[in-house]
Amino acid sequence: MRYALISDIHANLPALEAVLDHISQQRGVTATYHLGDLVGYAPWPDETVALIRERNIPGVAGNYDSTVATDYKHCGCKYEDPRQEELSHLSYNWTRQHVSKATKDFLGALPFRIDLLPKGGHTAGPRVVLVHGTPTLNTLYWTEDRPEDFCLKMASHAGARAGDVIAFGHTHLPWHREVAGIHFLNTGSVGRPKDGDWRAGYVLLQVGDGPVEPEFIRVSYDLERAMKGIRASDLPDDFAEHLGTGGQPSSAPVQPTQGSG
Ligand SMILES: [Fe+2]
Repeated sequence: MRYALISDIHANLPALEAVLDHISQQRGVTATYHLGDLVGYAPWPDETVALIRERNIPGVAGNYDSTVATDYKHCGCKYEDPRQEELSHLSYNWTRQHVSKATKDFLGALPFRIDLLPKGGHTAGPRVVLVHGTPTLNTLYWTEDRPEDFCLKMASHAGARAGDVIAFGHTHLPWHREVAGIHFLNTGSVGRPKDGDWRAGYVLLQVGDGPVEPEFIRVSYDLERAMKGIRASDLPDDFAEHLGTGGQPSSAPVQPTQGSG
């Protein structure tokens, strides 16, 4: 089976459109799943959810999705300084004010976790566990430098064994690690990457017979449209700059290019 895994779209409709278009051009993709955080930070939350629904893409609830759906006091996002905290609240409040009831209901109905058994539920494995943050909480950040103990604790919680995969997002930084034969896969972010590469990121995951093989894909999209959309809205312009630098303000300014890859 070859799965396309898309995470942390964050209401960036131009990025989502480009990624779905890219996936449609790939051979042998069995199914596409999203790993949550459909909304927040960009001005197309309803349109993003509508497109996910229109394409029948199943997925799990990110922290942004579950907090918006339940009117929680904040989005469960991490911030490192007072300005980041302020921006986080501005984005959350804007999103809560602008999502339709249909969008909110849809976000509230997303499951916390999805299990895929590409060889069928009648065999022992391999199993692919899809969550947003970790198998315990969708707000917990699972960075690449977490100790092996942490990974194994999460694997145990998820019931994962050697040969299985736990796939997630939330940090917006793509990585893949193998500990005790279990694959830990952060698929990065479609709509708000933080690794200094502005292009939309997703993963094609080969799993079933043979080795587990994740392929990290980056796709150019209409960045200018996304930045203009943010600037034309009441959202802070900072979010447009964030997209342009791939979340790394020290990065060289980018020139949007055509094509993908
Ligand atoms: Fe996110």
